[in-house]
Amino acid sequence: MAPPPLLAVREVPPRDTWPLRHQVLRRGHPIESCDWPEDRLGGAFHLALERDGAVVGIASFYPLPLPGADPSAEPVSGGGWQLRGMAVADGARGGGLGAVVLREGLGRAWEREAGYVWCNARVRALSFYLRAGFKCVSGEFEIPGVGPHRRMRLARPHRARG
Ligand SMILES: CC(C)(COP(=O)(O)OP(=O)(O)OC[C@H]1O[C@@H](n2cnc3c(N)ncnc32)[C@H](O)[C@@H]1OP(=O)(O)O)[C@@H](O)C(=O)NCCC(=O)NCCS
Repeated sequence: MAPPPLLAVREVPPRDTWPLRHQVLRRGHPIESCDWPEDRLGGAFHLALERDGAVVGIASFYPLPLPGADPSAEPVSGGGWQLRGMAVADGARGGGLGAVVLREGLGRAWEREAGYVWCNARVRALSFYLRAGFKCVSGEFEIPGVGPHRRMRLARPHRARG
């Protein structure tokens, strides 16, 4: 019987996410479309999930508040972080790998004192984020060239690690 695949999540430089960003999120666009200005933001971090040494999942986290959020109205202390660039490789989806990357990234965001994490979720991926506890905080809107999205938000759990 083959041994179970070896999974490891690592923090990586943004460039290491480009191949998967390109394959999954920017297919058909030039590779430069995977170089996002926010990647140069101090404090941002990027995760790669490796399965038997190959990157099969990625996610990026940026210390950026929810657009339009009033900090004084936030029910929790700590700033907002944006989750972006969440992707699992072709042929590897639907098997829980995305949940592994997301769980690891959220844990690291709480360790960095995030008060909440938000994202612009593709409508197709809503149930993925709902299962992780995110709630919709906007109606549907279109991101040109990408498709319909909803903004979602997850508050820091009361007993987050860190
Ligand atoms: C969304 C995504 C990261 C989830 O990772 P995953 O390993 O497939 O997810 P899990 O196995 O942990 O959970 C399955 C959920 O992922 C989502 N999902 C599965 N296949 C998907 C696909 N081809 N496209 C979008 N979402 C998908 C669904 O929400 C699914 O939940 P459901 O079975 O209740 O519908 C991954 O499917 C993906 O890369 N999709 C394409 C890119 C994308 O939509 N990224 C999110 C941008 S907001």
